[in-house]
Amino acid sequence: MSKEIFSFPKEFHWGAATASYQVEGGIENCDWAKAGHEEIVPKAGESSDHYNRFLEDFDIAKELGHNAHRFSIEWARIEPQEGKFNHDEIEHYRAVLLALRERGIEPYVTLWHFTLPLWFSENGGFERDDAPEKFARYCAFVVRHLGDLCTHFATINEPMVLASLGWIVGEWPPFKRVPSIATLALTDRAHKDDKKPSEKISHFFDYLRVVKNMTKAHNQAYRAIKKEYPDARVSIVKHTVYFHSDGSWWNTLKAKVMNYMWTYRFMNKVIDQMDEIGLNYYQHKKYGDTREYDYTDMGWQIYPEGIEGAIMLLWHYKKPIVIAEAGIADHTDEKRGDYIKKQIQGVARAMSLGADVRGHMYWSLLDNFEWALGYEKRFGLVAIDYETKERTVRPSAHMYKEIIARSSISLTN
Ligand code: BGC
Repeated sequence: MSKEIFSFPKEFHWGAATASYQVEGGIENCDWAKAGHEEIVPKAGESSDHYNRFLEDFDIAKELGHNAHRFSIEWARIEPQEGKFNHDEIEHYRAVLLALRERGIEPYVTLWHFTLPLWFSENGGFERDDAPEKFARYCAFVVRHLGDLCTHFATINEPMVLASLGWIVGEWPPFKRVPSIATLALTDRAHKDDKKPSEKISHFFDYLRVVKNMTKAHNQAYRAIKKEYPDARVSIVKHTVYFHSDGSWWNTLKAKVMNYMWTYRFMNKVIDQMDEIGLNYYQHKKYGDTREYDYTDMGWQIYPEGIEGAIMLLWHYKKPIVIAEAGIADHTDEKRGDYIKKQIQGVARAMSLGADVRGHMYWSLLDNFEWALGYEKRFGLVAIDYETKERTVRPSAHMYKEIIARSSISLTN
C-alpha cells in the first residue's frame, strides 16, 4: 500500500533556533552570569562566540536550506541599566537581522529568553508589581528600532518553565524552591547539591505572582509593540508538554487536568493578545503507558511524534502556530536524523487535520549552553568545539536539509 504524502505550503518557514545567552558569549550583566560567578550554575563564558561569528553561522544555515531563523535579543545588552538603552547593541542586532535578510532567511525574534538584566533581577524581577511595565518598555524600544527588519516578535519564551524551575524546583535563578511533592512532580533536571536553593512554602505564592506578572507583562508588551508597529506578528513561545492517556477514564481525566494546568491556564489569559503562537515541544507524558522508550541525552523519552498532539492542544485556539523549538540532545548524532523526520511527520499529520502551522525551527542550530547543565548536552545541527570555536555540520543537518528541499513527507513511517 502506498503511503500518503503531505506537501508543505510553498511559504512554509524551515529553520532552526538559538537564544542569546546560550550561544552569544560575553554576557556578564545578567542573573545567570551572576549565578555562574557564584558557582551555583555553570558559567556560559565565551560560549560559541555567535555574537562575533553570526555571519559564518548564517552562511551555514543558508547552505542547509533554511529560510527562517529564530534567535533572541539579550535584554541586559540593550538595557544594561534601568531606563538606559545601549544603541550600539541595537546596531549589533540590526546587523544580525540584515545578515539574515541578505541570505533570504526570515527572522523570528524572541525579546526575552530567560536571562534578566541585573538591575531588574536584583530588585525582585518578575515578582515586582511594576515588572510588566518595565518589560513592555523594553519590548517597545526594541521593536521601535528593529521593526523595519523583522515582523515576528515573541515576547516571552516558556513562561511556565521559567516560573517552575525558578520558584518551585529552585534550579534556576532566583533558586527558590517549594518543599515537598510539588518539586518531585515537575522536573527531573539535575541540580547541584553543594549550593542548595532556599526552601519555603511562601515561594509558592511568589511563583503564582510571577506567573500572573508574566501574563500581564505579555499583554502590556503586546499593546506597546502594536503601537510601535501595528503589523508586527506577536506571540508567546509556549513549552507544550503533551499529556495523554491509555484511554481509561481516570488517566484521561489526569491528562486533561495536566494539560489545563500546564498549558491552557496560562494561554487563556494571553491568547487574545496574540497574532500567532510559538510552540516548543520536547516532552510528553502518557498516563497508563506500558511502552518501552529510548531516551535522549537529557533523559527524556524519545517520542517526537507527540508533537502532533502538542500542536492539536494549541490548535484549540485556532491561531497560526509556529514550531519555535523542538529537537533532541544527542551527542553521537545517531538518533537525531530519525527524530527530526518523525517530528516533521507529526507536524504534517497535525496540518493534515487542519492545524495552521506556519514554520518549523529545529532546536538548535548550534550546540548551546544548556542552562544548569552547562555545555555537555548537544542539541546542535552544527557541533561546536568550544576550545577552537570550530563549527562542524552534523550528518543529521543534511537529513533535515533533504526534507526541506523536498518540502513533503510521508504521514506515516
Ligand atoms: C528552552 C531552551 C533549551 C531547550 C532544551 C527549551 O526549554 O527554550 O533554552 O535549551 O528547551 O532544554
